Amino acid sequence: MTKVAVVILAAGEGTRMKSQVPKVLHHLAGKPMVCYAVETATRLSADRPVLVVGYGADRVRQTVGEAAIYVEQTEQLGTGHAVLQTRSLLAGRSQAVLVCYADMPLLTADTLGRLVDLQQRSGAAIAMLTLKADDPMGFGRVVRGTDGRVMAVVEEAVATPAQLSIRELNAGVYCFAADWLWSRLPDLRLSPKGEYYLTDLIAIAVAGGQRVEALVSEDAEELLGINNRVHLARAEAIMRRRINEQWMLSGVTLVDPATTYIEATVQLSPDTIIYPNTYLQGATIVGSGCEIGPNTLVRDSQIGERCVIRASVVEGARVEDGVDIGPFSHLRKGAHLGPGVHIGNFGEIKNSYLGPGTKMGHFSYLGDATVGAEVNIGAGTITCNFDGQRKHQTVIEDGAFIGSDTMLVAPVRIGAGAKTGAGSVVTRDVPPNTLVYGVPARTKSQ
Ligand code: UD1
Ligand code: CA
Repeated sequence: MTKVAVVILAAGEGTRMKSQVPKVLHHLAGKPMVCYAVETATRLSADRPVLVVGYGADRVRQTVGEAAIYVEQTEQLGTGHAVLQTRSLLAGRSQAVLVCYADMPLLTADTLGRLVDLQQRSGAAIAMLTLKADDPMGFGRVVRGTDGRVMAVVEEAVATPAQLSIRELNAGVYCFAADWLWSRLPDLRLSPKGEYYLTDLIAIAVAGGQRVEALVSEDAEELLGINNRVHLARAEAIMRRRINEQWMLSGVTLVDPATTYIEATVQLSPDTIIYPNTYLQGATIVGSGCEIGPNTLVRDSQIGERCVIRASVVEGARVEDGVDIGPFSHLRKGAHLGPGVHIGNFGEIKNSYLGPGTKMGHFSYLGDATVGAEVNIGAGTITCNFDGQRKHQTVIEDGAFIGSDTMLVAPVRIGAGAKTGAGSVVTRDVPPNTLVYGVPARTKSQ
């Protein structure tokens, strides 16, 4: 039997998002919201968390994949009903059951761990997370007896005026003694609103002489639940600040954290400097000693050490050590720059390899090209890689010199050490160490 099983509720539609996308799949710092709860759960328990899905179940399953076990709640009859759906799967399997929501991505494993500890130490039937806050946010109110013990949670919709003024709120996160939960959960009765409230278990426990403990938090930030896009933006800002602080403490300089947008999936290395208005997204990895930005977007790319990228967009690319790019260049999918490559301004590179030390300084386009080492790509060079139907390859061998404004009509090969004159339109292969010029380009007679 494991210590704690984690149940994450994610069946609700989230109507206030006003979206075709299920609420828990909206992104936060580049990652679907639900993934945060799943990852936090994974840190708490060796067993995979159980995700209760309903609205958009297939899409949620597809997104989270093997990281969770799924139980479907076909009708959303309330939080109590949602947990009940997991009973046949989980009863007898753990000492404790932790219940949380998929729409609270800022909740930390540390806080959840303390809640589990409280339940285990006290032997309470329920340890619950509560929040002291001035703004009740529509949360259930925590009713305590004259002895200060928790007696019940009252939902806002059915609370008396006196109860409405209570400022201790139910966060909706609980650690239950498992056997107690599974035996009493079927006792929940329909509320006047036609739902089975998980919160009714608190009064049931108290009536049965069981202990209910509360872990009181004052960190409203951590307990932020996302119900609409205003909450989403607020959570995004908090998550961004957490990510930025983590990287600064790991040795990355962020010149202006307020305008630095690093997604949760990105990996950085020490002594890299990120300048303002820079977006690092997706599966991006950046080596040490780089300077990135200002005004740069890097997505799904691998950047080596000591690279400089200014005011440019880099997507799906691989950039080896000591490369400099920009300003105003665009690396697209499959661009691969070898060590020491220089890309100046207004360069576009797609699905191409550039060998070590190759230079492309000014407004050029390379697509479907393989370029050797120490090649000079003159200003305005273009690989004419598309004939209207198909893409064709261009090969430029080591040490070639491509004159300004050369059109390379693919498929075409420029031999090692060959040269093209300014304005050449190269339609046929050029042998090594040969100079071609003109339109169409021909070999210069000796
Ligand atoms: C719930 C609590 C309330 C607490 C608040 C904190 C109950 C009855 N009330 O209220 O005391 O202050 O959370 O946020 O529990 N869900 C399902 N299936 C359902 C219903 C809900 O999976 O049938 C999921 C939702 O997707 C959501 C979570 O449970 O992630 C909370 O449900 P919601 O209806 O938002 O509960 P609240 O009314 O906010
Ligand atoms: Ca809610």
